[in-house]
Amino acid sequence: MKNIQSLIANMTLEEKAALCTGASAWTTTPIERLGVPEMIVSDGPHGVRRVPDVHAMAMESLPATCFPTASCLASTWDVDLIHKMGIALAEECITHNVDVLLGPGANMKRSPLGGRNFEYFSEDPYLAGEMAASFINGVQSMGVGTSLKHYAANNQEFQRFSISAEVDERTLREIYLTAFEKAVKQAQPWTVMCSYNKVNGTFASEHHYLLNEILKDEWGFEGLVVSDWGAVRDRVAALKGGLDWEMPGPQERRVKAVVEAVRSGELDEAILDESVRRILNIVFKAKETPKTGTFDIDAHHELAHHIASEGMVLLKNNGLLPLKGQHHIAVIGRAAENAHFQGGGSSHIHPTKVAVPFKELQTQASNSELTYAEGYPTDRSFRQDMIDQAVSLAKSADVAVLYIALPTFKESEGYDRTDLDLTEQQVALIKAVSKVQPKTVVVLNNGAPVAMNEWIDDVAAVLEGWMMGQAGGIAIADVLSGKVNPSGKLAETFPLKLSDTPSHINWPGGAGAVSYGEGLFIGYRYYDAKEMPVLFPFGHGLSYTTFAYSNAKASAKTFKDTDGLTVTVDVTNTGEFTGKEIVQVYVHDHKSGLVRPQKELKGFAKVELKPGETKSVSVKLDFRAFAYYHPEYKQWITEDGDFDILIAASAADIRQTLTVTLQSTLSLPCILDKESTVREWLADPRGKAVIGALYTEIETQSRKLFGGADERYGNENAMGMDIMDMMNDMPLVSVLMFQQGALPMPAEEMVAGLLMQAHKME
Ligand code: BGC
Repeated sequence: MKNIQSLIANMTLEEKAALCTGASAWTTTPIERLGVPEMIVSDGPHGVRRVPDVHAMAMESLPATCFPTASCLASTWDVDLIHKMGIALAEECITHNVDVLLGPGANMKRSPLGGRNFEYFSEDPYLAGEMAASFINGVQSMGVGTSLKHYAANNQEFQRFSISAEVDERTLREIYLTAFEKAVKQAQPWTVMCSYNKVNGTFASEHHYLLNEILKDEWGFEGLVVSDWGAVRDRVAALKGGLDWEMPGPQERRVKAVVEAVRSGELDEAILDESVRRILNIVFKAKETPKTGTFDIDAHHELAHHIASEGMVLLKNNGLLPLKGQHHIAVIGRAAENAHFQGGGSSHIHPTKVAVPFKELQTQASNSELTYAEGYPTDRSFRQDMIDQAVSLAKSADVAVLYIALPTFKESEGYDRTDLDLTEQQVALIKAVSKVQPKTVVVLNNGAPVAMNEWIDDVAAVLEGWMMGQAGGIAIADVLSGKVNPSGKLAETFPLKLSDTPSHINWPGGAGAVSYGEGLFIGYRYYDAKEMPVLFPFGHGLSYTTFAYSNAKASAKTFKDTDGLTVTVDVTNTGEFTGKEIVQVYVHDHKSGLVRPQKELKGFAKVELKPGETKSVSVKLDFRAFAYYHPEYKQWITEDGDFDILIAASAADIRQTLTVTLQSTLSLPCILDKESTVREWLADPRGKAVIGALYTEIETQSRKLFGGADERYGNENAMGMDIMDMMNDMPLVSVLMFQQGALPMPAEEMVAGLLMQAHKME
């Protein structure tokens, strides 16, 4: 620290400004004179995309393990496994001389149409935050940095460089920032990458509130904030907003602008120094890890295989899977020969090797004969001949396995999807094959939900294989053959149709802005609120065995918010295969001051059980499990009252419910103001004390005047309504206006006096 301070003291203004901008596509600016080395960063997130020449923007990257993408990772619900993957990624960074890996991505899946959803974990902030924190802790435990991205509210590709995400404070805090907050607090990423877009009208790269106030001051982020590549518009405004390091470089004009701004007094040099300090801290930290050696290609391939097999989700199974005793398996679909294991864009990895799904199935089903038909072309054309060929193959076989990959022209970084559909050819293919072969299994490779209405009822089984990483072909064969009992569960809802999705009428915005009008209600929070059926709910995933839940207990019936709770439940494997169950714990608030989602995920655990075995699973629930963000108090608050703890196998499969009572330890400030409604006055203990007598008087007078439900007041003046129901939601000042004649002073003055009394009582 001291060293860094004296280094800064020795730096020229030009050197400081240059350090705050990259020297090339992937490097910081070294300062030889002062012994400041160059730091190298590379994409991320699910592999190391290290270009051989770090100064070149685009070229084929060095071979690295392509692990499954985030949709698959999150479906494992296995934080320890993600941690292991982080360690492996760090080993590859060390081999390839990479100081900071640009990942993970912790943005919410606001709509299944998001082109980049495959790179993100979930529609649920708790799950995404746990995954991101574990990823970061894994990588950083090896002395390699990460970049938590894209901060914030970057939930679509449409106009992603400029659009303004219009999102209210509470939604921002509870949905779009929570995963970042968890990751920062639980793992301290070395860097956080700001997003391209604007948030409520201000570029994320210049967003003082998001970068300085929330990320750095409130959450205590110690690292540096880097721009997404090309996200800076105004370098000086960005520095003031808290953006430390602009990428990519070089950007000579920007450097000059910073120097001039300091000289002219427009930019306080202390702001520049703070960014320099943060950058130097990370650069020197990075250099503490020597970048030498090699990594074990086979071991990492095996780890990628293991993760893929844990992340695959068996969506439907009428009993056909696992396959057994089939002599002839018709393997249909080009993804069987050409594995679709990653997405397009900046995360695209040059894999060390790729498992071919067809070959892997052949190895595992060694007693079966496998035949192959391509089924669909690479492009958008419709090829009936390919369907005909597949159908005749399927007819002659005992079972058909369709490997269906959503093509890159339908899903990639850089553009959103326009629908949830597979290609027309793929849908026709599945329909035609399942018509002649009832024993049809569909294996999907995609990064986000697809619609299945047209064919789901006609097929025997559906396995969601995701963008499964380079070894995913083995994992598919494992699950199909029963070598692995599937245990993945969805980290996002599969809707029935596009028009059901939460952001549908606000998507994707236009004229420079997108309204997050659905507010808190994304994913299952929305489908719960609308009581809307879905294709597959959040948290859903089948196994070859079954699990029973019993004996749920909470550590206390009544508890203080600051103490939290521990919930335990016994889970028994009631089937015939060893298997893993993911137990989900949701919290439901009986009554709250502001509207809340029906239930929210606040904990989970994954447990492996042999047939007949029972294990007790426990999940801790802390203050935040019960709190919500109150935009007027500007803090997370809890309220006294009852909560249900829902212990579930999926968002739609609640197995045990406990009811507990929370005692809030908060003493909240009085937020009554001159526009507060009568109801708000009454809800605040201070307000109630101050206006109690007055309220009784107003009620009596009003009911006499206008009538009321209460018979005492008769009906002669009735307006056919309960007047107080109306008045309670009027500002106190407006109610008093109607009583003006009877008041000793003007209504405004009276309210001002009452407010003073209430605020004094704090
Ligand atoms: C992407 C980032 C990526 C960066 C560098 C950007 O276009 O949004 O995720 O890390 O490029 O490749």
